[in-house]
Amino acid sequence: MSKTAENLERAFAGECRASIRYLAYAERADEEGCEGSARLFRAAAKAEMFHALCHLKALGTVAETKENLRAAIDGESFEFKEMYPAMVKDAVAENEIDARHSLEYAMSIEMVHHKLFKKALEQENGNPRAEAYFVCPLCGNTVPDAAPKKCPYCGVDAKEFVRVE
Ligand SMILES: [Fe+2]
Ligand SMILES: [Fe+2]
Repeated sequence: MSKTAENLERAFAGECRASIRYLAYAERADEEGCEGSARLFRAAAKAEMFHALCHLKALGTVAETKENLRAAIDGESFEFKEMYPAMVKDAVAENEIDARHSLEYAMSIEMVHHKLFKKALEQENGNPRAEAYFVCPLCGNTVPDAAPKKCPYCGVDAKEFVRVE
């Protein structure tokens, strides 16, 4: 790997982390009534996301959709079969309740994503039909077409789900 490719990989990882960290800072600012800072953090989070996207494209590792679906299937599969089970085990051993919940939610939902990506790959042109997906803001459950009345994984109400097109 060239020095530049290495730098782009590192910058990509850093921008991804910053983007999500700023979203968490924005939530905190909202809780403290600092709406201005919340807005600023959300705007910067979006900008860092664009930086990350740009770095990734410059790396030239984004393939065509069917290949990307296969890569997504492999990634999700690794996460729910190997990565998260080991992490959940450590959290249980260390009695870290919040970490355990967070890791278990992600582990369950990677299974949901795995199924959705697999189904997509089976469609002609790798193109599933749903017009929108509904994403649970707590556990990340991802549901095509309509939100469930209550999230079967974490109990969040349908109206809290985020619609994504
Ligand atoms: Fe996932
Ligand atoms: Fe949920």
